Amino acid sequence: MGMNPLRSGLIALSQNKALRSFAEQSRMGQKMSGRFIAGMHVSDALRVAETLNRKGIPVSLDSLGENVSTELEARRAADIYHQLLDAIQQRGLQASVSVKLTQMGMNISTAIARQITSELVDHAAATGNFLRIDMEGSDLTQATIDMARELHAMPNHPGRIGTVLQSYLYRCEEDVLLLLTDRIRIRLCKGAYKEPPSVAFPEKADVDANYLKLTKILLTSGVFHGLATHDEAIIRATKKFVEHEGIDKRSFEFQMLYGVRRDLQTSLVKEGYGMRVYVPFGTEWYPYFMRRLAERPANVLFIAKNLLK
Ligand code: FDA
Repeated sequence: MGMNPLRSGLIALSQNKALRSFAEQSRMGQKMSGRFIAGMHVSDALRVAETLNRKGIPVSLDSLGENVSTELEARRAADIYHQLLDAIQQRGLQASVSVKLTQMGMNISTAIARQITSELVDHAAATGNFLRIDMEGSDLTQATIDMARELHAMPNHPGRIGTVLQSYLYRCEEDVLLLLTDRIRIRLCKGAYKEPPSVAFPEKADVDANYLKLTKILLTSGVFHGLATHDEAIIRATKKFVEHEGIDKRSFEFQMLYGVRRDLQTSLVKEGYGMRVYVPFGTEWYPYFMRRLAERPANVLFIAKNLLK
């Protein structure tokens, strides 16, 4: 994505194991992460969900974690999501869940990830909820799409599972059209990983143009999708398109990240648009946090200033 050295450096640091374990265990690290992470525990996530719900904002809860290396770890990660699905139902929260396949054991075996994720979709269906599979790096794009389609085709699953596509990938349009033939719900984002020019547009302007082009396809598809971006120019263009085409404001939703552009979140709610906030929580916050810094290197300064206060 027209990557400057600071951005690609931060993404590289997001994969640094030593820094990760140091940061995740330090008090200072936990304090810094509070800017983008709801807290360390399930109870923190539920509290934040309640607060946002009261402002008319539904959420998607993300129990942080990726790249587990044993089936036991994958099952433990899934257990937290089972707890969340029950708690959401019991408390009547407006909340769905987002998972990563590498957190469900995808790096160990596809069969394990399929089994564990499918149990979660069963639970989501039984509690009237919805599970979204986040999209990771391009080595997993095809496998994630295949998994989403397989899970979607299982009994009771249609409408209970969706996934994410990234407009920085050249293949994104093809993938949009494919998922639409199954009527699978898509969250469109720009993409947060470091990808080579062989698979992704190197220029941000191309990523943005592709985003808007694909948004228009999604909005006229008759399926409920999520537009995940904080980009004001894209949001403005989307609203214009929606008004011009007479599209129902409630036939899709905008989505933003916890702690990012709260002003825009509130104004979209006031204008009557659907607006869902992605709420990450948990002790394994480091890679997520570093990707957020990479998106907006000015955040590094912002966080440093807050620490000194
Ligand atoms: P862009 O990067 O062009 O930024 C536009 C403006 O938004 C900036 O000028 C700034 O004002 C604001 N902004 C953006 N990021 C910010 C930040 N970190 N801090 C402060 N301000 C910021 N990616 C992925 O690869 N797989 C996935 O599954 C998901 N899932 C996902 C869910 C949701 C709900 C969102 C909002 C995003 C994702 N993403 C994601 C991340 C996405 O791919 C992308 O990296 C970020 O959303 C940043 O891109 P923008 O579209 O916001 O625009």
